[in-house]
Amino acid sequence: MAVQHLEADNTKREALAARLSTGDMTVSNKEIADAFEIDPHFDVNKIPLDDIDPSHPALFANDTVWDHFARLRKEDPVHYHKESSVGPYWSVTKYKDIMEVDRQHDVFSSQQRLGGIVLGGVAREADDAFALPMFIQEDPPKHDDQRKVVTPMFIPRNLAELEPLIRERIGVILDGLPRNEEFNWVEHVSVDLTAQMLATIFGIPQEDRMKLIHWSDTVSSLQDPEVFENTEEGFKVLFECLAYFTEHYEARKKEPPRFDLLSMMAHDPATSNMSPQELLGNVLLLIVGGNDTTRNSISGGVLALNKNPDQYEKLLQNPGLIPKMIPEIIRWQTPLAHMARTALRDVELGGKQIKEGDRVAMWYISGNRDEDYIENADKFIIDRPNPRTHTSFGYGVHRCVGNRLAEMQLNVTWEEINKRFSKVEVTGEPLLQRSSFVHGIRDLPITLRE
Ligand code: HEM
Repeated sequence: MAVQHLEADNTKREALAARLSTGDMTVSNKEIADAFEIDPHFDVNKIPLDDIDPSHPALFANDTVWDHFARLRKEDPVHYHKESSVGPYWSVTKYKDIMEVDRQHDVFSSQQRLGGIVLGGVAREADDAFALPMFIQEDPPKHDDQRKVVTPMFIPRNLAELEPLIRERIGVILDGLPRNEEFNWVEHVSVDLTAQMLATIFGIPQEDRMKLIHWSDTVSSLQDPEVFENTEEGFKVLFECLAYFTEHYEARKKEPPRFDLLSMMAHDPATSNMSPQELLGNVLLLIVGGNDTTRNSISGGVLALNKNPDQYEKLLQNPGLIPKMIPEIIRWQTPLAHMARTALRDVELGGKQIKEGDRVAMWYISGNRDEDYIENADKFIIDRPNPRTHTSFGYGVHRCVGNRLAEMQLNVTWEEINKRFSKVEVTGEPLLQRSSFVHGIRDLPITLRE
């Protein structure tokens, strides 16, 4: 095991890793965190290359993962990690290699029964009670059939219709915020905005919107010792989500088609007969897909502008830069740090031999800092010439279906912020999420200046 672990006893880690790999949901989250604890500030350039493991959540919680990826990009861009808390895996850290993996969906599978799209994912058959079958964890043709059902929600014509509603709601939220007084931006702005948007596209009552956020946050914290004793406890909450959506899904089936995600799924043959697990999986996909990512882009933008005051000044001088700034914020934040795949056959990538069954992580967060592909990749520049050159939405058949919705929401949010405030000033220490999948901000203390 990697040398940087604080707990010297390897046997404990090996025993836990073995239980995790079988899909045991009762393994204590705290035991895992303790056994795999590291000093997140250690100097990655002083350890052997083979000991590097960028999947460690503490590196993300402490914002210290960047040097790990810089070293991997430089010394071994397609790198095999023999041991980690998420089992053995390959790290793909350069832009072009990431695109190659994402492009070859016939070689690099997303299927849950092979391990799915998150590092540490356990292979589960669709009828397993703890499986969450969803179209992001399927390959074509099933993936394509189910994705097509919800795509109409995200086409430009519909987004143009949604825009005034989103603008109005953002205005109400911003007008209700305290001035010249510190508060948590994530809780009061980012969360509420995305919650309202999600309730709208699902066609459920606005007063239920925080339930969606609660279930989405549950998915993101299943392995967080501060939230759940073990993953099984977290699933009990998700089963409440299933009960709620089953009721709405069954009701939609009996009604004429409406323009909302639930109705679309209830009336299309590809999704009208989903098992309970599949309904839960696809609902969670759409909730989590739209929640954490947009929320963290909104918060991440505030943080990036505060850390780069020259860019904030540029924005204030020229609000017309907002449409260029939004994709730059999304690149800079990279709200989903990685997506994982499983090799369906032996294949060469970047001069390395990947074997059938190997797990492969595309580190979008690292591709977005690849100097060989993006000029000044380590700088936040709100008027870069090609701001859409980034890996944050993925590529190929799984490329984010909600990308235009996210961009529209962020555009409108920044336009409305700029109309009202001279500055959204970060006045306290941000608290970052402990996850190598969702690259997020849990708390962001800010003060609004008029
Ligand atoms: C800044 C915001 C967002 C980011 C960074 C983001 C990122 C991603 C990424 C990286 C993927 C996987 C791509 C791949 O595997 O190649 C994805 C897929 C997906 N996203 Fe997003 N997303 C965002 C917003 C949204 C929104 C607002 C929604 C919907 C409400 C959404 C729904 C989905 C869905 C359903 C998929 C699965 C697509 C498929 O498998 O075909 N996302 N997203």
